[in-house]
Amino acid sequence: MNFNELKNVKVRIADGIAWVSLNRPEKRNAMSPDLHFEMVDVLKELAEDTAVRVLVLSGEGDSWCAGQDIKLFFRDLDDKPRERHLARLANHEWRWTLLSSFPKPTIAMVNGYCFGGAFVQLFACDFAIAADEALFGLSEVNWGILPGGLVGKVIVDGLSYRDAVYYSMTGEQFNGKKASEIRLVTQSVPAAELREKTELLAHELAKKNPQTLRTIKESLRLVRGMSVDQAADYLLAKEREMRFLDTERGREQAMTQFLDEKTYRPGYGAYQRNEDAGANQPKESS
Ligand code: ACO
Repeated sequence: MNFNELKNVKVRIADGIAWVSLNRPEKRNAMSPDLHFEMVDVLKELAEDTAVRVLVLSGEGDSWCAGQDIKLFFRDLDDKPRERHLARLANHEWRWTLLSSFPKPTIAMVNGYCFGGAFVQLFACDFAIAADEALFGLSEVNWGILPGGLVGKVIVDGLSYRDAVYYSMTGEQFNGKKASEIRLVTQSVPAAELREKTELLAHELAKKNPQTLRTIKESLRLVRGMSVDQAADYLLAKEREMRFLDTERGREQAMTQFLDEKTYRPGYGAYQRNEDAGANQPKESS
């Protein structure tokens, strides 16, 4: 895929980090159908790109994402059922299906406005670092519409019920510091430090065992909807799956280094990775 041909999305890959940004700054990165189509292609491409260990989702200019493009995504498609259907599919596919199950860690780097529909991809990311100055709002109520398209679901699942109700019924704006206080984002930092802090976290994640990270995120997302018995069984099965798929046999390396060689303490940091340690183990068959 030639990323240079994209019109609504920018992709730069450096040092294992894919920097993906919505690229409609003149419209505050509001999401048009074409942006949705491009993001589906981008996420599919990056998922299995071995040069990518972490994905950062940001926005060009002074906005992260001003929600759906009210003209291009809604009004212009009102009388075009086929186009509307395809745009809705793509919109859901990248913002939820592909992003929440992306096989590598994902970080939302919230550099500015984050409104309405943008909350879906915000919650789909594993981490969110916001500028203190970023502005958030569940502005749907101000349009006379529902926080639909999954927004109502992700806020009830991800925020306290009190905060979900308060912000969706008042539409009140809040900044990055408040977003951190209500745990909408992982951390809020001054805008001048946003890129540096995001990069630090991305590099930290890039050093860890990729199969372990993938299994942790898959497991934590899914156990939320399970009973205790289901979760216990599922987590055991996931642990076994992870050991089978872990091409560097991290568990064995870690045990040897901790118990026999006494060269590391897992409480203080990761084991010394040898990425080729499991080169001869059996491959997953379809
Ligand atoms: N849909 C369509 N166009 C948009 C959107 C949007 N969601 N957001 C901004 N734009 C456009 C503006 O119409 C304007 O276009 P123009 O230059 O052709 O007039 C351009 O982007 C710049 O926007 P301004 O309003 O001039 O920028 P400002 O910095 O003053 O304000 C803000 C930014 C606060 C984001 C404002 O544009 C706004 O309130 N946008 C709507 C945000 C929103 O409610 N999103 C949720 C939509 S509902 C949903 O997602 C389901």
